[in-house]
Amino acid sequence: MASYLVTGAAGFIGSHLVRALVARGETVRAFDNFETGRRVNLEDVLDRIDLREEDLRDAAAVRAACEGVDYVFHEGALPSVPRSVKEPRPSHETNIDGTFNVLDGARTAGVKRVVYAASSSAYGNQPGFPRVETMTPQPISPYAVQKLTGELYLQSFWKVYGFETVCLRYFNIFGPSQDPESQYSGVMARFALQMLRGEQPTIFGDGEQGRDFTYIDNVVSANMLAMEAPAADVAGRVFNIACGERHTLNETYHALAGLLKYPLPPLYGPTRDGDVRDSLADITAAKTQLGYKPLVDFSEGLRRTVDWYRENFAS
Ligand code: UD1
Repeated sequence: MASYLVTGAAGFIGSHLVRALVARGETVRAFDNFETGRRVNLEDVLDRIDLREEDLRDAAAVRAACEGVDYVFHEGALPSVPRSVKEPRPSHETNIDGTFNVLDGARTAGVKRVVYAASSSAYGNQPGFPRVETMTPQPISPYAVQKLTGELYLQSFWKVYGFETVCLRYFNIFGPSQDPESQYSGVMARFALQMLRGEQPTIFGDGEQGRDFTYIDNVVSANMLAMEAPAADVAGRVFNIACGERHTLNETYHALAGLLKYPLPPLYGPTRDGDVRDSLADITAAKTQLGYKPLVDFSEGLRRTVDWYRENFAS
């Protein structure tokens, strides 16, 4: 058994990782400032984790949280493309300075490896699908730049210090316990809640933009594999984590509406600033180097997600 630090532990992805580690009997330290993370996400494991309510921008707190830890999953971030467009400084500080603090703290404390939540937004709107890790990133939004900067820092720490780091570029993750109530929530969570409440969701743009929507269990599995793989195969590298399928927003809307028996069509509004038009991953590198494969496909993921929102938000 080993000791793990999960940053962003009360967030959607972080809390799923915490639960998976606890279920395996690992020692888990959970780090979150609860700005976007939610206490309810950790409720069932609170008595089995060391919870630190601290901020990633606080270098000393991050450093202290890394003490005695073998491995770090760095999921903490201030997410959302539109949030970063509207107000770039807070996400800049959390996503860039915070990531540096994690790397510096982890290296100083003798941590063995950091696995990082990178973002598919790094690819931007360049031509060429599917997206392969060898493409030159062309980030558009501040959020995309911040997440890419984090990747570069992780790669630098491997190159100059031999400190083991792995970047996982997530492609639009969805599933149970993703916060549906913020204007910056992921689209799947937002639409599910709006449909359950009888509110009419708005699609930004024509709805023909595509996303490689990826169910949360696939991401948890990718993280475990990235932490366990031999350094020779993964250290200093970047991997797309997705399903390798493109689904349009219109298609996704109708699939959700069908499952929730929601009768109304979407409203349409202007395209969001900083939005990427299309997203589709090549997952060959993750398959060959990590042994990754999608465990839950889009349709099954949608069913599980809808069931969860129905149970938790129906009233
Ligand atoms: C982006 C990144 C993703 C990252 C996430 C973090 C890309 C391709 N993906 O996701 O890797 O993890 O940021 O926040 O850049 N939409 C609507 N109506 C709504 C809400 C959203 O139409 O009410 C649309 C958006 O305009 C967008 C799509 O749905 O076209 C997905 O939006 P969202 O779920 O916010 O994720 P991305 O910004 O694509």
